[in-house]
Amino acid sequence: MALAIHRMLARVLSGGLAFTLVINAGFSTLQAEEPVIKVPAGLPPIPFPEDNQPTVEKIALGKQLFFDKRLSLDNTISCASCHAPDKGYSNADQFATGFKGQKGGRNSPTVINAAYNKFHFWDGRAGSLEEQALGPIANPIEMNLSIKEAVDRINAIPGYKTQFQKVFGSDATEETIAKAIATYERTILCGDAPYDRFKAGDQKALSEGAQRGMKLFFGKAVCSACHSGPNFTDNAFHNIGVGMDAKEPDTGRKTISKLGGDHGSFKTPTIRDIARSAPYMHDGSMQTLKEVVDHYNKGGTPNAFLDEEIYKLNLTPQEVDDLVTFMKEGLTSSNYPEHKMPELPK
Ligand code: HEC
Ligand code: HEC
Repeated sequence: MALAIHRMLARVLSGGLAFTLVINAGFSTLQAEEPVIKVPAGLPPIPFPEDNQPTVEKIALGKQLFFDKRLSLDNTISCASCHAPDKGYSNADQFATGFKGQKGGRNSPTVINAAYNKFHFWDGRAGSLEEQALGPIANPIEMNLSIKEAVDRINAIPGYKTQFQKVFGSDATEETIAKAIATYERTILCGDAPYDRFKAGDQKALSEGAQRGMKLFFGKAVCSACHSGPNFTDNAFHNIGVGMDAKEPDTGRKTISKLGGDHGSFKTPTIRDIARSAPYMHDGSMQTLKEVVDHYNKGGTPNAFLDEEIYKLNLTPQEVDDLVTFMKEGLTSSNYPEHKMPELPK
């Protein structure tokens, strides 16, 4: 039965292509030609781009690059420094700390389920993961290594050179480095949480408090007006009043769209496995999920651009707790991808 479902899933995912993909050793019982990606329950198929289809080798290569500090000028920082598996693929700092301790003005967002994002970055300035992947390497306050030098460094490491030859049929280039990293990122998936099991009919999957919180989330507290769908985001931008009382507020989406109405709007982030990635918000200004709910409960921080779905909620203290319980308990996945640093090529 389970096998049949996975086969079906496999067919859907492969789009009819005949390649093999076994990420999870648990599925090695499948025949070699059965293409499989283990998408956790509750999530849709992974939208791999036409021109960057996954293979086991490509994912492994991208993972090495993601964890490799040699992609920073002084060999001290990797993608995983700011998107750390043990910190919800974010990091525990208010602001990301990059090259020589320099801090940017924004909190590291999680890359969990980034595969499904229509936009990347808090202001949505990158459309695809491929487009995004090279940015941090060259960014002077992140990894500070020119892309040309990054390409040269990778090709000077024989273990990488052979892998790029095998996966892409050429030496590493800007394009193939981005493609490998993006492919790995698409496999960082969180689903199959108690919420998904409850939705699928398991009445015992959620405690009573979490069930009350779930009702509030989709009802009185209107969280699902924006945190909607399987990844709990509408892939859109809203001003919920975070940081709007700063001296010079981050203008967010407006900087990109040039639309006045986007002032102080930021991308709705996924909140799957949200308990792992404090602090919260684009400016890392909230330490706990209770602080987050208190913010919504008081109707956000008033400003001229506040979203119409943000208003005083009049939640009781018990209701605030229930919402927090729903997020902590209900949205924490059973099979969290606690990826370890892979062995890096020499
Ligand atoms: C110094 C810390 C730091 C490093 C190193 C870093 N990032 Fe990030 N990352 C950030 C911050 C901060 C943002 C949000 C920036 C913004 O919104 O303006 C971000 C955003 C992202 C996003 C967008 C997530 C989303 O959907 O909004 C992805 C994907 C990502 N980084 C991947 C990577 C990859 C791949 C690397 C390595 C090549 C990397 N990051 C290295 C701090 C870092
Ligand atoms: C109007 C749309 C909207 C509504 C309604 C809304 N959110 Fe959000 N949520 C957002 C946006 C946008 C952000 C990011 C804002 C920022 O960083 O400035 C966010 C951020 C968050 C975060 C922090 C995520 C992170 O990674 O830092 C949590 C947790 C959260 N929301 C939970 C909730 C809950 C619980 C409710 C209901 C009480 C709710 N949201 C209602 C749009 C919304």
